[in-house]
Amino acid sequence: MASIAVIGGTGLSEFLQGESLAVTSTPYGELATPLMVSDIAGKAVAFLPRHGSPHRIPPDRINYRANLWALQAIGVRKIIAVNAVGGINPELAAGTLVIPDQLIDYTYGRQQSFYDGSSDRLEHIDFSYPFSNELGKVLESAAADCQLKLTRGGVYAVTQGPRLETAAEIQRLGRDGCDIVGMTAMPEAALARELEIDYASLSLVVNPAAGLGDELITMEDIHAVTGEGMIAIKAILQAAIERL
Ligand code: HPA
Repeated sequence: MASIAVIGGTGLSEFLQGESLAVTSTPYGELATPLMVSDIAGKAVAFLPRHGSPHRIPPDRINYRANLWALQAIGVRKIIAVNAVGGINPELAAGTLVIPDQLIDYTYGRQQSFYDGSSDRLEHIDFSYPFSNELGKVLESAAADCQLKLTRGGVYAVTQGPRLETAAEIQRLGRDGCDIVGMTAMPEAALARELEIDYASLSLVVNPAAGLGDELITMEDIHAVTGEGMIAIKAILQAAIERL
């Protein structure tokens, strides 16, 4: 059992090397990777690499429902999600850490809900504030403990992927009020809310969004920023888990 989970994204396929749990099968299908549980600061923490390990599952093919169901099944009540994103707001340069407080969902064709008509229950969850303010505060304090800069607040645009956006799409997202753009916060955040699990995103800006940088976006540039950023993210995760 574990009450805290970290969902890792690009660059965090390996976070914990602990005991692997037997939960792999769920009513929504198989988990891509078994859950790992480790002891961090005396707490059992589950780790789930959302793209699989090794990193291979595209954002639109992730079985978000199986992932969230499995985490709940082992007792998880708080999730820190790590996301690599592009920066739209010019103040959010590559390397910046952001805790978004809002999102706009531009994805399509993903299984968005556990309420899919297959059971007798239907609920319309309140999703006005998609991220947990309490968990956000813990992450902010943890970053301060580590003397790391982090931006609190911002709108996360969730796009379908796996391709990056066009420059015109990014202009539109900017007009919509989005600050960062990534591919994985939805339906993850909504499914967590349906299960009443606290959910916060710790996002790392890994590139200026399409059309906003001096150069085209390359995976090499993204990997370079991701590598550096994940060192900071691991430190923040450790400090946050100590505080939870
Ligand atoms: N767009 C969408 N998702 C991303 C980006 C981006 O520019 N960078 C990292 N994930």
